[in-house]
Amino acid sequence: MSRTVPFVDLSWQTAQIRSEADSAISRIIDTSSFILGGAAEDFESAFARYSGVEHCLGVANGTDALELVLEGAKIGPGDEVILPANTFVATAEAVARAGATPILVDCTEDYLISVDGVAAAITPRTRAVAAVHLYGQTAPVDALRAVVGNDVFILEDAAQSQGAKRHGAPSGSLGDAAATSFYPGKNLGAFGDAGAVLTDDGELADTIRKLRNHGGVAKYEHSLVGRNSRLDGIQAAVLSLKLAHLDEWNQLRRDAAATYAELLGADDRIQLPLVAEGNEHIYHLYVVRVPDRDRVLAGLGAAGIGSGIHYPKPVHLLSAFAHLEQGPGSHPVAEAFGDEILSLPMYPGITADDQQYVADTLLALL
Ligand SMILES: Cc1ncc(COP(=O)(O)O)c(C=O)c1O
Repeated sequence: MSRTVPFVDLSWQTAQIRSEADSAISRIIDTSSFILGGAAEDFESAFARYSGVEHCLGVANGTDALELVLEGAKIGPGDEVILPANTFVATAEAVARAGATPILVDCTEDYLISVDGVAAAITPRTRAVAAVHLYGQTAPVDALRAVVGNDVFILEDAAQSQGAKRHGAPSGSLGDAAATSFYPGKNLGAFGDAGAVLTDDGELADTIRKLRNHGGVAKYEHSLVGRNSRLDGIQAAVLSLKLAHLDEWNQLRRDAAATYAELLGADDRIQLPLVAEGNEHIYHLYVVRVPDRDRVLAGLGAAGIGSGIHYPKPVHLLSAFAHLEQGPGSHPVAEAFGDEILSLPMYPGITADDQQYVADTLLALL
């Protein structure tokens, strides 16, 4: 059979926890504790501790987590929220669904939101900045705070950064609140959809605790118009098991990143990912830039190697956001990167041999 290297392979990490997960899931089934409940509370405490914050609220997915923070912070119609043009669409969707206006800004060489771009985008209507911790490294939240001041809410989009740090402080503890996703392929991934909000703000946490559960914490008492966005017991149990391995699995990703750097670093046609000063990257994605990307991607595919583009179009060029009226040329760095970026296979459990095959194939295609 011909050789293959998948883009992501979750089977290695699943095998590490499989027997414990089977027992934990059985316990949830035996106790019928399917929604929120003890397993969710245990995970929320553990993940809050891990993230260095007071409160963690488990919700249904990362997009809801973003939206719930904005709603809980009363950011909506008439307000502007600044976010990077190069992010997964969910960041912009949450802003739009909250009724606020997304204000897109460009990125810098490290793919992170441009602090100068944010400074230039501030208006009297600016209520928040969504600091997206893209690909596994945190946005420069300290520098963002310095330009936006203390009255603008900083929402960390921490969907891709579980375990990352900035100047030693964990992702999720850097802004006013953070939203994260436990989509299965994330560094901390559930066995289905799941997400969480992290914050030190007790009042915001109380509001989101209600909003996620039809506007109340006690059954049939609804003090807010809420929604249904709760963490399932089975997902919480799995997440607790995986959280215990997260640092070790992130280290394996860092090791794999170092291996790619060794194998590819000498070729100046390939731009390796840059790590911003003060950041501990956890390589949710390993994104290089190459010339003639589409041909290279097709060549990798023909050789049995999975790769991806994160993301082919920045938000302002997606038809869903055409109403923002920011055509081609609005955010040139993000647009140029869209034509060059290539995400290589990256997951704990990838072998050095597979990485050698990826690197040899990639170099031969250039
Ligand atoms: C940067 C970013 N924000 C938000 C989300 C949304 O998370 P979810 O898919 O759990 O809704 C994702 C993940 O898909 C993401 O990568």
